[in-house]
Amino acid sequence: MNICVVGTGYVGLVGAAVFADWGHTVCGVDIDEGKITNIKKGVMPIYEDGLGDLVRQHMDLDGLSFTTDISEGMFGAEVVFICVGTPQSKTGAADLSAVWAVAEDIGRCLDPDMYTVVVVKSTVPVGSNEKVKELIGVSAPKSAKFSVVSNPEFLREGSAIWDMNNPDRTVLGIGSSDRLSEEVCRVLFSLYEHLSSPIVWYDLRTAEMIKYASNAFLAMKVTSINEIALMCERVGADVDRVAEGIGLDPRIGPDFLKAGIGYGGSCFPKDVQALMNTAKQTGSPLTIVSAVDAVNDHLPELFVEKVIREFGVNLSGIKIACLGLAFKANTDDVRDSRSIEVIRMLRGHGASIQAYDPRAYGNAVEELGYFGISYVDTMNEALIGADAVVILTEWPEFAELDLLHAKESMKGKVIFDGRNVLDQESVEDMGFTYYCVGKRTNAYEKEPDLVPGIFLPG
Ligand code: UDX
Repeated sequence: MNICVVGTGYVGLVGAAVFADWGHTVCGVDIDEGKITNIKKGVMPIYEDGLGDLVRQHMDLDGLSFTTDISEGMFGAEVVFICVGTPQSKTGAADLSAVWAVAEDIGRCLDPDMYTVVVVKSTVPVGSNEKVKELIGVSAPKSAKFSVVSNPEFLREGSAIWDMNNPDRTVLGIGSSDRLSEEVCRVLFSLYEHLSSPIVWYDLRTAEMIKYASNAFLAMKVTSINEIALMCERVGADVDRVAEGIGLDPRIGPDFLKAGIGYGGSCFPKDVQALMNTAKQTGSPLTIVSAVDAVNDHLPELFVEKVIREFGVNLSGIKIACLGLAFKANTDDVRDSRSIEVIRMLRGHGASIQAYDPRAYGNAVEELGYFGISYVDTMNEALIGADAVVILTEWPEFAELDLLHAKESMKGKVIFDGRNVLDQESVEDMGFTYYCVGKRTNAYEKEPDLVPGIFLPG
């Protein structure tokens, strides 16, 4: 099948490469000329394991091409995917200008002699797909035949190719007038029939809601354990074991219960905001989602308070090794990264930072600049002469931190582990003062027990 994918960001580029890998002929379109020139040379705009090889492989086989010209990209395409970004606007609502512009372009380029299925993968608020259909209709030639389908994407950065090949489910939203269309059924069937997971069909608005509700629920799950972690610190319980214990209940499940310094990235923060915005507009405020947003926002500050507790509010003269800049491991993405937030605060208190991340250095420099920060090439370099280590991203190599070597390289002996990647006992046995998330460590040794007295009756 001939496929056109408009937008070569995370979803679009991964989608284009995977569709080509499934045997389709794919053209990726983007208005960013620099990006397309680089992709054509085999240089990827993002770091995603395996993506560069897959793109280069299918470009070599002529199954995958790229262009900045949408009419060229849509030539002969039976299906067109809209995968452009929907960033957060100043009001918190999703900025849909790119989606609207692409819808108009698609309309103009529709071939009146073909039936075209337009599939929206961009994350868009409820009602947007109907508007996409309307806009395409306005600019399309009178005799053009097309349908609009919602197909929200659930892939995670860092495992995006695996996720596209192994989705938990494929959600499709189809308007009532398109539901019986043979063309729509044929196109969607030939795209997804080989997947072993369920394909579920809904109306357009329900499919749009599923994407937001899904991200809001996951954000809520992470935030719930993060808030429980705060209480664990006070009462002397261990949040990792609490997560293990509650995760054994299948109604809760073990995933997404890793406590840390909060969720970030290109999806959760903006989607939660956009959902709250739609909720407000529709007069049905989502109180829980708003609380999730507020708690998550506060977590970096609470983490920095641990550093202040140890060194005082004025951190000038304190050198801190910051391990991790990406919003999570296996990506170079720093959008809404909690690590960046923590580093900004530490720098605001006067600390000098030695930062290391295996992948995200380039993107982090754009966010943070160089003032008060030196970026180094290895974890060991970051440790040299540091008063403390702060772990901000759960990259596997940080869990392998050589404590003996750290002790010898560093000036001080304090570790702040924002992702609970280290083993508490080993760190404390090595003589470090250890702060982490959701556990009462040796850093609190001299504090009184906060658990209220339990009095037996009588
Ligand atoms: C998310 C959704 O998982 C995906 O389905 C959607 O399409 C896009 O948004 P992604 O942003 O790539 O994917 O990251 P994800 O792995 O879901 O993590 C989101 C954030 O939550 C990260 O900051 C991560 O560090 C944090 N997180 C996740 C935790 O702090 N603890 C956890 O247990 C899980």
